[in-house]
Amino acid sequence: MEILKLEHVCYQYDNTEHMVINDVSYSFGNGKLYCITGGSGVGKSTLISLIAGLDIPVSGKILFEGNDITKINRDMYRSQKVGVIFQSYNLLQNVTAAENITLSMNISGQHVKSNSQPVYDLLERVGIDKNKADRKILKLSGGEQQRVAIARAVSSGASVLIADEPTGNLDSENETKIMDIFLRIAHEDNKCVIVVTHSEQVAGRADVVIKMEGEAH
Ligand SMILES: Nc1ncnc2c1ncn2[C@@H]1O[C@H](COP(=O)(O)OP(=O)(O)O)[C@@H](O)[C@H]1O
Ligand SMILES: [Mg+2]
Repeated sequence: MEILKLEHVCYQYDNTEHMVINDVSYSFGNGKLYCITGGSGVGKSTLISLIAGLDIPVSGKILFEGNDITKINRDMYRSQKVGVIFQSYNLLQNVTAAENITLSMNISGQHVKSNSQPVYDLLERVGIDKNKADRKILKLSGGEQQRVAIARAVSSGASVLIADEPTGNLDSENETKIMDIFLRIAHEDNKCVIVVTHSEQVAGRADVVIKMEGEAH
């Protein structure tokens, strides 16, 4: 089923001369892993912020389940429908992995008790055991931190996960593990997973590869 659709999306930053995203139309379904590739500066991160509802297209539409995301409750869309994962993890460093998940679930309106079983279950599913779940983020490796960030993105119940170069800071062993998790989330949990990557190894495992082309200025 098609869950997300971009229709003739254009975007231009303020005080710049050119469109960064120029007439882009893509369609994304549940149960598939998509990779977006393309050279540096073609607009991949910009596209991610548009899909995440952090920025609004200057023209064109982004439809989630058929509804224009600028016409639905943006806070609800951002906190419950899409989960974003960054290269730099963006976790709270000084609290534990379990507390990071608990906080995020509370923000998305699910009232879980601090460090309760559903929190540990989410972390377990990305290979973070109880012992590691109770460790402060700064005491986890990069690969482990990224797995916590994925659990956090999943914890809101989001049906679309978007990740901007999620393995950019990781070695190839961890890259493989992160991709195993994304593929499982797409194929077993029937989510739509969109991964921006430079890595051919990562793109090679996607169900669909979308190559963004830059504008010739
Ligand atoms: N805040 C901004 N203001 C102006 N230009 C920007 C801003 N952010 C990014 N850009 C420009 O937009 C283009 C696309 O950037 P980006 O989406 O980050 O590309 P990618 O992620 O593919 O490397 C680049 O030319 C970049 O310099
Ligand atoms: Mg980028």
